[in-house]
Amino acid sequence: MTENPIRFVFRGRPIEVPVGDATRSVLQWLREDAQACGSKEGCAEGDCGACTVIVAELEEEVPEPSRAVRVAGVALRPVNACIRFLPTLHGKALLTVEDLAAGDELHPAQRALVEHHGSQCGFCTPGFAVSLAVCHERHAEASTRPTRDELADELAGNLCRCTGYRPILDAGLAMDTLPGPRLPLQGLADQLRALHAAPAPAVPGFRTPRTLAELAALRNQQPEATLLAGATDIGLWVNKQFRALPQLIYLGDVAELRAISEDDGQLRIGAAVTLEDGWAALVRRWPALAEMHRRFAGPPVRHAGTLVGNLANGSPIGDTAPVLISFGATLTLRRGETTREMPLQNFYVDYMKNRLEPGEFIEAVRVPLLDERWQVQAHKLSKRFDCDISALSAGFALRLEGELVADARLAFGGMAAIVKRAPGAEAALVGQPWNEATLRQAQQALASDFKPLTDLRASAAYREQAASALLERLWLATRPQHPLSPHQLRVFA
Ligand code: FAD
Ligand code: FES
Ligand code: FES
Repeated sequence: MTENPIRFVFRGRPIEVPVGDATRSVLQWLREDAQACGSKEGCAEGDCGACTVIVAELEEEVPEPSRAVRVAGVALRPVNACIRFLPTLHGKALLTVEDLAAGDELHPAQRALVEHHGSQCGFCTPGFAVSLAVCHERHAEASTRPTRDELADELAGNLCRCTGYRPILDAGLAMDTLPGPRLPLQGLADQLRALHAAPAPAVPGFRTPRTLAELAALRNQQPEATLLAGATDIGLWVNKQFRALPQLIYLGDVAELRAISEDDGQLRIGAAVTLEDGWAALVRRWPALAEMHRRFAGPPVRHAGTLVGNLANGSPIGDTAPVLISFGATLTLRRGETTREMPLQNFYVDYMKNRLEPGEFIEAVRVPLLDERWQVQAHKLSKRFDCDISALSAGFALRLEGELVADARLAFGGMAAIVKRAPGAEAALVGQPWNEATLRQAQQALASDFKPLTDLRASAAYREQAASALLERLWLATRPQHPLSPHQLRVFA
């Protein structure tokens, strides 16, 4: 067992929890140790949202700007308790569905779900109530009201199998007209500050460096340890593949990795920046990426997972890599005191294999601030609109000079063992007039750039056809003569 327990705020007071197994999930602890059974287990893999809880930390610890909800000096994030490892709660606060009501008085989200019949069997309802409560806090703080679409996006990580979503969305729209308590956050910031003075926990096989230097030294000492970021991939290794992870190094508390900054013409996203905050930073600069952000997983996964973790895991159908490869992004790789820059497009060597050296880790990704001469597009083709793994994903960056294609970077996921560019199609474009004849040449060249697989998500033929159609869509939207507007292009959606 451990001599130093983890410490976090739960039910309004700091508690100490000894942790013997670093991969024990927050949901297991809630249901089996704390007898807090309001949070449910449906899928145990971050998909259904039945286990949604709120993790709060001091607001100065999240990057500026962040999509976490800032209230009373803390930052709130909805996360899936089933794929959140318990030791990562140290120094934070955990709120669950049981914290929403104040005594007998229901939270407005709960009251709205009751009044709008937003529940049948009730299994998913605690997760919805928590996600709605976070949305309620966001809009109460800003004195705004969510639109139906914004609500649907906030609930994209919550699945209901029997009520249907209309009454749940109706409840969400009615929340702010109903009486009821806000979340119990008074004094929480002070409690969290006091926790920071507490000794670091000692959990077997789990290390939580606080600085980049500490992390780099630890990584060198333990090159075989698993680097743990948001655990939205790793959590499934434990829950679904039953893998033992004897040594974990947690990146989430390393201050320098949690920053988003701009320097010498590049946007720098640290390795512990969440998907939600990293993608929001990209969309603020390039609104064309908004749909990819909206459709990437759901909010609880985006608030837990990291953008660099999506690049590091090297999935051939990862959604971030094609987009950032088309931007010409580079990775800052660190080992001990030394760093090196590697173009993201060179990072992957083969299926789920990359060029990291032993003892090395990704410190940040740097994205060139492409100016308005560049036109960028991001595409995610999947069976479901929300929270689905892509059959095909793509990132395009095109620069015209007059009617000529001056530069083009076309990157695809789902078309090969790694995410990669389409060299033949790019060569068919650059230097040519951007007209239909050139497009047809590029589509022909694309067919020899990739030999996609057929799997349960899509056939090879579908992938080839879809990739070629995305190239046509790029031309229709950016051709010098009569480009189509996004609205006109919707017909091709
Ligand atoms: P972790 O799980 O913590 O780690 C992932 C891997 O990266 C591990 O091998 C880890 O060791 C390594 N790693 C992490 N950080 C570093 C670093 N700094 N240096 C070196 N190695 C590192 N992915 C998509 O692309 N699109 C989706 O739509 C999508 N939807 C999802 C939906 C659900 C329900 C779930 C559970 C996952 C989904 N994912 C999706 C996959 C996953 O969320 C992302 O890949 C996420 O970005 C992984 O980041 P993480 O911080 O959780 O990584
Ligand atoms: Fe389904 Fe956690 S149990 S998301
Ligand atoms: Fe039954 Fe949603 S109420 S799953």
